Amino acid sequence: MAPITTATNQSALNTDTPATDQFYNDVIAGLISTPKHLDSKYFYDANGDKLFQDLMNCPEYYPTNREMEIFTSQTQELAKAVIAGGDAFDLIELGAGDATKSSHLLAHLIDNKADFTYLPIDISGNVISYLNITLPVTLPGIKITGLQGEYFEMLKKAASISDNRKVVMFLGSNIGNMPVTDAEEFCRELRNNLSAGDMVLVGVDLKKNPKTVLAAYNDTDGITKKFNINLLDRINRELQGNFNTAQFDHYAMYDPETGACKSYLVSLAEQDVSIGQQTVSFKKDEYIYMEISQKYTVEQTNDMAELAGFKPLSHVFDSKGWFVDTIWMAV
Ligand code: AVJ
Repeated sequence: MAPITTATNQSALNTDTPATDQFYNDVIAGLISTPKHLDSKYFYDANGDKLFQDLMNCPEYYPTNREMEIFTSQTQELAKAVIAGGDAFDLIELGAGDATKSSHLLAHLIDNKADFTYLPIDISGNVISYLNITLPVTLPGIKITGLQGEYFEMLKKAASISDNRKVVMFLGSNIGNMPVTDAEEFCRELRNNLSAGDMVLVGVDLKKNPKTVLAAYNDTDGITKKFNINLLDRINRELQGNFNTAQFDHYAMYDPETGACKSYLVSLAEQDVSIGQQTVSFKKDEYIYMEISQKYTVEQTNDMAELAGFKPLSHVFDSKGWFVDTIWMAV
């Protein structure tokens, strides 16, 4: 299908920060495509972080609480798996955020005198300086080296800092924000950045009653809607956009067959939106595809591991069987 609008000058915003240029180019490229789409990685500005906090506190949004239960009540189980033979290791966390979940594991490892260094990786410099400052206070004795940057670049950096065995954590079902084929590719690239014997601990949201999944992305208080609409507000704020957010509604759907849970924003009217120098036209009822939150069966996670060159070693489930933290070893 051909784009219905053509970009004339994608770098027309002339910002002097490369990050904003990248954001602008991605937004325009997504909105001149058919179908229109935006990248959910842009949800997380300061306001988006706050809305995600609100989401984690809303009753329908279960994934965070389910994984938190694993990290608080099965810490021993997780620790045993990552300690393995007892040699020194680097515990790397991709997208560490405030490390609320992982800090339970970190505390347990410190109490049990495990020989490890914690290397949180995050794209946000704020996150990294926050962890570098606060973790030594809340977890006395921790060895921490925060790395700010892209996951795979920082994994290479971690490998250059020490040749200790690596254990990489990727929690929160963040892997679900990729379509299945991208997630498979991600796992292969992860494997390519590790050595045989290294480990991965992945948090995956599992397929379950479709109504439970859908409700988590269609909460009655409308926080998920605000979370999606915030990206339009962010475009207005940072990219000189003029979205009338009242003219967009949130639509979430879950397909139990494929396990894809998708979010859309639907234009309630025929309208033009300008972003910097660019104008984007919407037909009434035209949608912007915003996000995928892919759900898996345990078997699918095992297959994904093997396809990428890992051997699944163990599966730690929450008490409802809704979420799994699975541990893979690079072969
Ligand atoms: C942070 C990617 C795990 O997909 O469940 C929450 C983000 N989106 N509600 C998820 C999100 C809508 C969340 N992750």
